Amino acid sequence: DNGGRSGGGGRYGALSPSPLADEVHRIDVNPPKGTRDFPPEDMRLRNWLFNHFREVSRCFGFEEVDYPVLESEALFIRKAGEEIRDQLYCFEDQGNRRVALRPELTPSLARLVIQKGKSLSLPLKWFAIGQCWRYERMTRGRRREHYQWNMDILGVPEVTAEAELIASIVAFFKRIGITELDVGLKVSSRKVLQEVLGCYSVPENLFGKVCIIIDKIEKIPVDEIKRELNATGLSEEAIEELLQVLSIKSLTKLEEILGVAGEAIADLKQLFSLAEKFGYSDWIQFDASVVRGLAYYTGIVFEGFDREGKLRAICGGGRYDRLLSTFGGDDVPACGFGFGDAVIVELLKEKGLVPELSIEVNNIVCTLDCDLQGAAATVATKLREKGQSVDLVLESKPLKWVFKRAARTNAQRLILVGNTEWQKGMVVVKVLSSGEQYEIKLDELE
Ligand code: HAM
Repeated sequence: DNGGRSGGGGRYGALSPSPLADEVHRIDVNPPKGTRDFPPEDMRLRNWLFNHFREVSRCFGFEEVDYPVLESEALFIRKAGEEIRDQLYCFEDQGNRRVALRPELTPSLARLVIQKGKSLSLPLKWFAIGQCWRYERMTRGRRREHYQWNMDILGVPEVTAEAELIASIVAFFKRIGITELDVGLKVSSRKVLQEVLGCYSVPENLFGKVCIIIDKIEKIPVDEIKRELNATGLSEEAIEELLQVLSIKSLTKLEEILGVAGEAIADLKQLFSLAEKFGYSDWIQFDASVVRGLAYYTGIVFEGFDREGKLRAICGGGRYDRLLSTFGGDDVPACGFGFGDAVIVELLKEKGLVPELSIEVNNIVCTLDCDLQGAAATVATKLREKGQSVDLVLESKPLKWVFKRAARTNAQRLILVGNTEWQKGMVVVKVLSSGEQYEIKLDELE
């Protein structure tokens, strides 16, 4: 059954027979669950968003990079029990290689940096906008494919790098009309956990695992968290202390517990002091419960959140000074963030900030005389060569149809190629906003 669409006639007149006539089967017209089509109106919004990502990155002096969407599966396998591992789209290709659709961009960045080695001049500041794939349980703003804007700085061990990255996120929010009343960034450092665990002689190799368990604190019951921590070998006492520290929301309080000497406090203080100089203090707050769900973070971590608490993290990132050595490379100090395209659009909708974007062409060119279709093409070519956009009407259509189309495409001018004028090398121009109409020589058309 093909829905009665076979055979000639109908809207498009007689069609030639289909070469696939004996293969007809009705398809599901929806894209696979969790993925999206981008019809023109959605593509306009996506381009608008990506342009802002690019503009901010350019403003901060970052260079654009990209990597393959398909990578070796091994690049994404870490042992810490991350959610991202279970969400991998992976398969064996026809050459028996285990491959995966990238769930994130950071491992690819690490791979490329190792590959380029000494030829790279540090610090490097790279940004990328790429599609990532995660077989995720679908919620608002979480899907199985999303685009992620990443900015990363490699080669800077100082907190100045994190401060710069947060500045770029704030700059982005401001550009699209989001204020510090709408969103904020929660900041902490994994060194806080490290220092607590250090007091209980927890082996270093458990650190990543513990972070991943703690990251789930808002998603699963505390008892379950305790049970999981206990299973890694942490004592009851250590767990209690950890959970207590995680509830701290003030740096002063944290300092009372950890003492002033540690790196965690020093890093965080420096970051908050730099925030003042950058002018974004109102956007950030300390929150010890932020650890992020990826095993490789080693220092400052941060995440963007909506103040109404309706949405999942808007963006997230941190320092990952030891990722490269896990791939056999030499470590380079590194930090960065990922900023998805889905949650931010949900937020823009909430705030009524989604821009009205419509197609806009400079000219619609038409003729009412089918013998002049070639002349209309000549006019279109002339205009396009001058950098003007032209929607050329490809069949002869009544003027009423042309005006309707011009209204839909927001054309500024209608250019009519009529027989009498064309014989004089002229065309009729109608300025659609004012209704003004005049004849002009083709060569003088701007
Ligand atoms: P992540 O926290 O896994 O970090 O993801 C970063 C952001 O990507 C999230 O905050 C969210 O905006 C978006 N995102 C992630 N998963 C989904 C999803 N399933 N649907 C929609 N949006 C999603 C990373 O991926 C790190 N590699 C970021 C990074 C770069 N760290 C250092 N450099």
